[in-house]
Amino acid sequence: MRSKNIVIAIDGYSSCGKSTLAKALAKKLHFIYIDTGAMYRAVTLYLQRNRINFEDVEKVEQALNDIHLNFHSRDYQSHITLNGEEVSEEIRQMSVSEQVSEVSAIKAVRREMVKQQQRMGKSKHVVMDGRDIGTTVFPDAQIKIFMTADPKIRAERRFKELEGKGEVVTLEEVFENIAHRDYQDTTRKESPLTRADDAIILDNTDLTEEEQLNFILEKIKRFLLENHLE
Ligand code: DC
Repeated sequence: MRSKNIVIAIDGYSSCGKSTLAKALAKKLHFIYIDTGAMYRAVTLYLQRNRINFEDVEKVEQALNDIHLNFHSRDYQSHITLNGEEVSEEIRQMSVSEQVSEVSAIKAVRREMVKQQQRMGKSKHVVMDGRDIGTTVFPDAQIKIFMTADPKIRAERRFKELEGKGEVVTLEEVFENIAHRDYQDTTRKESPLTRADDAIILDNTDLTEEEQLNFILEKIKRFLLENHLE
């Protein structure tokens, strides 16, 4: 019998397939999936729409009071609403991707998002993906995964996804965006992307979705058995 709620923290570089793995795990284990990147993206969209200067700390802090984010799950897909409006598609556009790293480096934004994420994972079994989940949001998470893959492969995967959605974008632009976000995410002052010492490293450059899911499920099963959680 499981007593305490279980948190599976998945961190890693941009476009590594974190959300694909997180969704598959949530579906298999009947956990709730929380896409924390979507939260930073929705904040970015709000600031862009309202033409709020990211450097104006006071304005950004004020805006955070007016931003209400909610997740709802349909067919194990995570949908996010920004003040009641479904924005799951819009936040994936390049215009948001280009500025989300800057917004997610803002201290006030991180403080508020981390607070909301901790609240969401407090009493339920969750799979949460992002950049600082195993290090800052849930340093005590029972399962931590750190994902990585060759940047060229990541760019190709992301390019295909955007192309499929009809976005006019080149592979070079996508590659540049990924390289830029890797740099920003790993060098920012506020909780930069780093691997937690106790995280399982998962390089999926040459793995299929099924292979990586099985690899992680095996680790989780072993952990639950060893800790008498199942
Ligand atoms: O996972 P994603 O690519 O949708 O995330 C978008 C951006 O948000 C990413 O460039 C870094 C930031 N992010 C973060 O700083 N911390 C998180 N926990 C999740 C995302």
